[in-house]
Amino acid sequence: FSQKPYDLWLQYDKIEDQAIGDTYKSQVSNIYLGTNSPTGIVIKEEIEKAFKGLLEIEPKFDAKTPNLIIATLDKLDASIREELPDSSKINDEGYFLQYISEKEENKLIISSKTEKGLLYGVFNFIKQMQLRNDLSKLSISDSPKIQKRLLNHWDNLDRSVERGYSGFSIWDWYLLPELIKQEYIDYARANASIGINGTVLTNVNSNALVLSPRYIQKLKALAEVFRPYGIQVYLTARFSAPIETGDLETADPLNAEVKQWWKNKADEIYAEIPDFGGFLVKANSEGQPGPNNYGRSHVDGANMLAEAVAPHNGIIMWRAFVYSEEKPEDRAKQAYSEFKPFDGKFKDNVLVQVKNGAIDFQPREPFHPLFGAMPNTPLMMEFQITQEYLGGMSHLVFLPKLFEEVLEEDTYTQGKGSTVAKIIDGQLSNKKLTGMAGVANIGTAKNWTGHPFGQANWYGFGRLAWNPETSAKTIAQDWLKMTFTDKSDFVDPMTKLLLESREAVVNYMTPLGLHHIMAANHHQGPGPWVKDMPRPDWTSVYYHKAAADGIGFDRTSSGSNALEQYSPEIQKKYSDPTTTPDKYLLWFHHLPWDYKMKSGKTLCYEIAAHYQKGVEQVEGMQKTWQKMQEYVNPQVFEKTNMLLNIQLKEAKKWRNACLLYFQQFSKMDFPDFIPKMT
Ligand code: GCU
Repeated sequence: FSQKPYDLWLQYDKIEDQAIGDTYKSQVSNIYLGTNSPTGIVIKEEIEKAFKGLLEIEPKFDAKTPNLIIATLDKLDASIREELPDSSKINDEGYFLQYISEKEENKLIISSKTEKGLLYGVFNFIKQMQLRNDLSKLSISDSPKIQKRLLNHWDNLDRSVERGYSGFSIWDWYLLPELIKQEYIDYARANASIGINGTVLTNVNSNALVLSPRYIQKLKALAEVFRPYGIQVYLTARFSAPIETGDLETADPLNAEVKQWWKNKADEIYAEIPDFGGFLVKANSEGQPGPNNYGRSHVDGANMLAEAVAPHNGIIMWRAFVYSEEKPEDRAKQAYSEFKPFDGKFKDNVLVQVKNGAIDFQPREPFHPLFGAMPNTPLMMEFQITQEYLGGMSHLVFLPKLFEEVLEEDTYTQGKGSTVAKIIDGQLSNKKLTGMAGVANIGTAKNWTGHPFGQANWYGFGRLAWNPETSAKTIAQDWLKMTFTDKSDFVDPMTKLLLESREAVVNYMTPLGLHHIMAANHHQGPGPWVKDMPRPDWTSVYYHKAAADGIGFDRTSSGSNALEQYSPEIQKKYSDPTTTPDKYLLWFHHLPWDYKMKSGKTLCYEIAAHYQKGVEQVEGMQKTWQKMQEYVNPQVFEKTNMLLNIQLKEAKKWRNACLLYFQQFSKMDFPDFIPKMT
């Protein structure tokens, strides 16, 4: 096997089917590459790698009669230019991939407005060969639908990674700027291949040290590596940095000296890194400093920073992940209550970054009510790729299915069809600035993500950031084919496995709308009993409210009324348990243990049935995987096997722990299919 886990989905193993390989060779081996810029060099190297691997040939770049033309639109001959669609069909990052017949000669054209678009087009061309598609049928005009497609690294300067399960941070700050590791280049290449165009290098719980001149030099070195790949660097800004650096005694955003401090800091960074992206800020959340410390608002804080980076075209991503133990309000309501009144008040270069759900990256949450509620503010989606609440390092969970579910949800905020995807890609309110962030699952692990299938989640995030309407199924199929093999005996059952894996984890962790019942602090494993924490909203009992009278969080008008933050259509449907989808039942309702479910069984029975189903789904995943040995690198096969064993053990633990815990209140016997527990 030549599959190399380090190479991710960019596996360029020789095409076994000789007929296909020969056809490709005849179609595209004489190349004209119309650029030798740094991005042009990246393109050249990538084509060389792909051709040497897939076709076992050295591509010819100086061909007199090329049959593969790679050049920006302004460098194409008029006769070829005419064969392509109108340039208005793509945006600045988009590209054409078009097979044409010109004067009885066939050619594949990869073209775009910018070199970045060209790079994306080249990666798609290579992918077409990885997928064994017919090049002569190619007629693709593609552009990203979202502008800022960012990874968020929760990486600390000491190289620990908050909620990271794949080793240490890949940023070796100590040896930067002098030592440029090959990993930085390979990281940039992998991200560019899926269209990611920015990376926030530091943890949202930030450290002001990264803003010091010494670190700016380190940052500059990384920015230089990433630039040819179209990737901008960003940092998290610690709001109290003016104080921590020893420069000022306040960080009040309305103070003239504070404003000037940030302006100077921005100027200093941009002098070294002219394409620096901007700042991501976690303010007044979970103990982080922010404008509220000075009696100022999120708008005051964000706009002050926005002014500092605006002259350099920088942006501010201001997080809406706020909740306070001092407020009596249901945690699920607080971000909306705090941010909605600010709609339209942020400067043009501010995005409000909102987690997909109102609590915190749970296995399943309804979409965040802020989506659609701030039509005059660009809202950026924040997904979590690292599996903080989904089994950390050991569970196989295909997250694009979770992301797809959120993106497809209809908010009804501008009538039927107002999906979350259409809100974040700007279609609905004609937003000028759009973005999607994914909290990275990358570390020093030899395969980047620890769990071999963590790679699929990184890949899938990139695909959805490019086009939030891409289906999880397409992503699964493409990733499996690119990473392993295109054989249908592998791809079909494995696609099914990936697509079911997310429902499995919901079933064995938090079925029927349960949430936040995990172990305290590290968040791995069950902990429905967690009640003694520094804050009530960090416990589990706050969320499940299991008692003699039933279980679930009443978020209707008889309870916290979090439901009022959604559109009337959703309120109407979800205010009644009989019309609430089962998957959100206990998120919105507190119901008696013997409540009669749509299935005709009691709620208590259905909870047990879901936990059991989750366990059985993992057993099913194991069975499928056993049949895949011949298609997979033996090390990856064995590692996944062992991880699935852990996943099964942990799924059973979740089932047993939660059912036994809830039984104290329900006092009901388990159905017969639940194995005896001692
Ligand atoms: C979660 C997570 C924290 C993280 C926080 C955030 O609460 O457990 O580690 O800092 O989210 O997103 O800011």
